[in-house]
Amino acid sequence: METPERRRGDNLYPVTLETQLGDYSLNLDVPAGVWNPTPHGIHLGNMLAGMDFSGEHVLELGTGCGIHAIIIARQGAAKMTLTDLEQPILDNARHNLAKHDVTCPTEYVLADWTRADGGPFDALVTNPPFAKSGKRYRRYFVDTLILDAHKLIRPRGRLIFVHSSMADIPKSIDFMEQNGMSVRIVAKLRVLSAITTLKILYTSRKWRRFPVAIRFRMAHTTSV
Ligand SMILES: C[S@@+](CC[C@H](N)C(=O)[O-])C[C@H]1O[C@@H](n2cnc3c(N)ncnc32)[C@H](O)[C@@H]1O
Repeated sequence: METPERRRGDNLYPVTLETQLGDYSLNLDVPAGVWNPTPHGIHLGNMLAGMDFSGEHVLELGTGCGIHAIIIARQGAAKMTLTDLEQPILDNARHNLAKHDVTCPTEYVLADWTRADGGPFDALVTNPPFAKSGKRYRRYFVDTLILDAHKLIRPRGRLIFVHSSMADIPKSIDFMEQNGMSVRIVAKLRVLSAITTLKILYTSRKWRRFPVAIRFRMAHTTSV
């Protein structure tokens, strides 16, 4: 049994992880090859545990072991679409959702990042790959998320994600604003003097001139 604080080294070794997110106690089976939730993921989970997803169809990109999907379902989602890159990862998420008695209708979809069908979704949740993304351009997943959000999320829907400060938070906020969004920081967290979490509300400047605005809310985690 392991707690997030005791994790070490590579994030893909097998573990059974006990963690508390808000009022929810989780006991997750994470086999070799599936991402072990880090403090970023734990913090995002804590944020989600305080959010209302009642009646919403929620997309999670890169669900990993399903830690966030369990909370999203508990917080009222009507339907979930969970993506990742490999079938064994999705099978593990399915296992953990069943282990935690999740009954919310859930689709498990192999999809490369924002190339997810089935929208527009009411909310998009993600802990984007960053430090071990395998991309030469380390902001690849953050930037494409911001660029493609409008294809996936309905007007006035929410984009909720956690963000490392190593990826340059001011740059992301500026990029979101350039893409017609306003940003509200949800929460900040420091872990080992290194992690900050922010929450963001996002309103299209362009659409503000019209009666209906596109709104996004984001949870944003930063490590300094
Ligand atoms: C930082 S981990 C987050 C996992 C989980 N949500 C959590 O917080 O513990 C990123 C996840 O995205 C997945 N991933 C990496 N590249 C991807 C891609 N191109 N498309 C979809 N998912 C991807 C990884 O397999 C991993 O599960």
